[in-house]
Amino acid sequence: MAKKLWGSRFSKKTSALTDRFTSSIAFDQRLAKYDILGSLAHAKMLGKQKIIPSQDAKKIIKGLNVLLKDVISGKFKFDPTAEDIHSNIQELLTKKIGSAADKLHTARSRNDQIALDVKLYLKSEAKDILDFITQLEQSILKFAKANSRVIIPGYTHLQVAQCVLLSHHLLAYIEALDRDKSRITDMIKRLDLMPLGSCALSGTGLPIDRSLVQRELGFASLTANSIDGVSDRDYIIEVLADLSILAVHLSRVAEDLILWSTKEFNFIDIDFSFCTGSSIMPHKKNPDILELIRGSVGRVQGDLSNIIMLMKGLPTSYNRDMQLDKPPLFDAIDTAKSTLEIFIALFQNIVMERQAVASRLSDEALFSVDVVEYLIKKGVSYRQAHDIVGSMVKECLDKGKRISELSDAQLKRFSPKLGPDVKQILNAWSSVSLKKSYGGTNPKLVDKQLAFWSRKLNARV
Ligand code: ARG
Repeated sequence: MAKKLWGSRFSKKTSALTDRFTSSIAFDQRLAKYDILGSLAHAKMLGKQKIIPSQDAKKIIKGLNVLLKDVISGKFKFDPTAEDIHSNIQELLTKKIGSAADKLHTARSRNDQIALDVKLYLKSEAKDILDFITQLEQSILKFAKANSRVIIPGYTHLQVAQCVLLSHHLLAYIEALDRDKSRITDMIKRLDLMPLGSCALSGTGLPIDRSLVQRELGFASLTANSIDGVSDRDYIIEVLADLSILAVHLSRVAEDLILWSTKEFNFIDIDFSFCTGSSIMPHKKNPDILELIRGSVGRVQGDLSNIIMLMKGLPTSYNRDMQLDKPPLFDAIDTAKSTLEIFIALFQNIVMERQAVASRLSDEALFSVDVVEYLIKKGVSYRQAHDIVGSMVKECLDKGKRISELSDAQLKRFSPKLGPDVKQILNAWSSVSLKKSYGGTNPKLVDKQLAFWSRKLNARV
């Protein structure tokens, strides 16, 4: 049984049930590295401020560095009976260096220590997640550039709408992912305040130097209120909200790819190495990875709801409930990372079914808005033009005809403004080229966007 950090006030031993129920070592052990890094900075400061003898500080730092190495190399032995990661490290340090270790917890509480650990952990994880998102954007961009002239039928309400460049559609994903990155970057700014020195909740009478610890650990500034320092978990809520939005984006991209890989769409082929089969239906090649990505929104959003419910109505300052913030936080971080990791690889294993897609572009309904705009350019009002093209589309559908098959006279019946030149715009290339507005699907504009993102994303790596 590991030694308690608070045992002497107790007239009795806690029951084994209490120990098991209150312990967090099973999950907070992943904070070991950050706990040690925090302790290293704290010990250095205690020594420098002469709060503890510099000899003791040196011993503590030496001992902690050995433990840090063990954690990094995986040699560190976690004690399943420890109350939490803080106690586990404290006890091991005592074993290593003896009584000097007793001075490490001077002017510190586990309340500010855990806030520090989680903030350090999150800063590091956020960086990994930002890198992953950038890699996913790069994978998408590569696919977009390799298919920059491919035109697909675009959909609204999952009904065929208008032609768009595939690359334009893919760049929409990058826009959304880049917003995810900016949200996470923004969250880090609010998190980047060093909480150590808040102690239990009121600060300390000992002459600590919080700024030294802040600089040592690379924080932008200090928390300015010791009660808020141990009370605040906004950064966890924020990161989970950001990851929930990211998961929503990934689920929508996954859904597009699932649809596109169906026999009915047949826009893309996903390599066998990123598909799965059926135990009963021999013909199947299923997009399970994409379905799991799509499904992970439930998980991450559940983690967010978990923390929000956990924090709601808690009395200001530290409460033990807050220990339960870690499993959902870790789960959401793990889910986001594993989802991004596989999505990056999957995107490198998709092939466009160019012929099949091209065959879908002969549906002239795709060009109805282009014909409306053709008429507007000839002075017809928008409403009239919409009516004219509506009747034309209806008649063609009723008679099983294409607009391009209508004779000049038949065209004129719908509107005297409909000349034979209208047939020149009834093709996908002209349809995308006609879009001139900034942000639209015009190939020249999309090329500019591709170049913009190439510069931006490559500069960031
Ligand atoms: N395991 C605790 C947590 O995760 C650490 C802080 C405990 N503080 C205390 N006074 N019991 O929040």
